[in-house]
Amino acid sequence: MIPKIEISADFWTEFTAQNWLRQPAVFQLPQALIPAEEVFAGMLNLPQAETPEGQRFPLRFFRGDKQLPVEQSPRPEPADGSLEAFCGRMVDTFRDEGFGLMINNFQGLEGRVWMRALSFLDGLYRRVGMPANGASLDLFLGNYRKTAFGVHKDDQEVFTFVISGRKRFLLWPFEALADRFGVSEEDAWKPYNLWRVDHEELREEAVVLEAGPGEVIYWPATYWHIAENIDGEPVATLGLGLMPSGARLDYFLDAFNETAAAAPGRTIPYHARVGAEGSLEGWWRLLDRAATNPEVRRCAEENWLRWLTRFGFREAPDVLRRRELPETVWLVGNPANPVIYNRHDEDLICAVNGKIFVIPQNPRLVEMLHFINSGRPFQVGDLMRRFSGETHDGDVTHELAREDIQMLLLGLVNYLALWEITV
Ligand SMILES: [Fe+2]
Repeated sequence: MIPKIEISADFWTEFTAQNWLRQPAVFQLPQALIPAEEVFAGMLNLPQAETPEGQRFPLRFFRGDKQLPVEQSPRPEPADGSLEAFCGRMVDTFRDEGFGLMINNFQGLEGRVWMRALSFLDGLYRRVGMPANGASLDLFLGNYRKTAFGVHKDDQEVFTFVISGRKRFLLWPFEALADRFGVSEEDAWKPYNLWRVDHEELREEAVVLEAGPGEVIYWPATYWHIAENIDGEPVATLGLGLMPSGARLDYFLDAFNETAAAAPGRTIPYHARVGAEGSLEGWWRLLDRAATNPEVRRCAEENWLRWLTRFGFREAPDVLRRRELPETVWLVGNPANPVIYNRHDEDLICAVNGKIFVIPQNPRLVEMLHFINSGRPFQVGDLMRRFSGETHDGDVTHELAREDIQMLLLGLVNYLALWEITV
């Protein structure tokens, strides 16, 4: 079956009415457990998944309060066998100093963790929409006593999933500390650190939330917070951050930069000759031209579909390398993470899990995508029989070969849009 986090509709209804953007809380959601073995598998994927720039999944390792250079940062190895054993090795290595390990964009390291995160977000996004500035999922692991950067706030609505161990958070509403430490109202939605503040002196006023495996802690972006270790044992959490403030236009700007603006020989009006006004006019004309340029629009459209099907995350898992898909295999798609498509001239531009592919505008293919998105299990051979053949659309005849269907299904398996099941 497809890995997921099952949350009832009632939970989301109550959550969006009571908590979203408002109130922190801890929830008992045993179905929301992300298994430690999947997290461990994701950590093992790190070296392979890392590009030479090393930027896709930034890793930070702390020995006590001191951050180690990446080359010296210990990492889990297959020989560790489990997250627990890796933590045990770190405890033995660093003894009283304590250790901390953080990995950003963790959702892109493990397909099962990715699917669980998406299934959780599906319930929320259906009710509140997508956060305009995107989402992130970060791993926090260690037995450090408290958050290294002290009492702070972020620009994210945060869900913390406890994977193993128990963790405590002290939280304060924005106004409670803003007045006292001279933080302006405008910073309520921004990241902010109260570097010199001792959290012990604020403990009495804090909202204190504790959670263990199968529990999820939520706090709004406006809340100050600090995390604490409770019993000295290592704790692993995944922090899911959603950024509803601001809006990301990368998908448009990248398209603009990649196409129209990058055309060779392009110049813009020179300010010393045309003045500020003339230059600005030229600038707005450039933007207008870009927004209506078919090449920019097509590229922006693809970037937008990638962003949507990444659920606002920066990274999605890599494409699998499966080579064959026998007709006897059973597959299932995911209604919470459908293959979406947009008609563009003769093409259907399709997207799922941050990947784009283009197929011809054949009504049978559209019908097949709808079937896949319904989440009904099917056998590869059955789908090949059912949707292959000729269709007439006015005076246009569309052909769909069985092998083309098989290739498309294989592609969708590699994009994690279809999952193999046993029946
Ligand atoms: Fe934080």
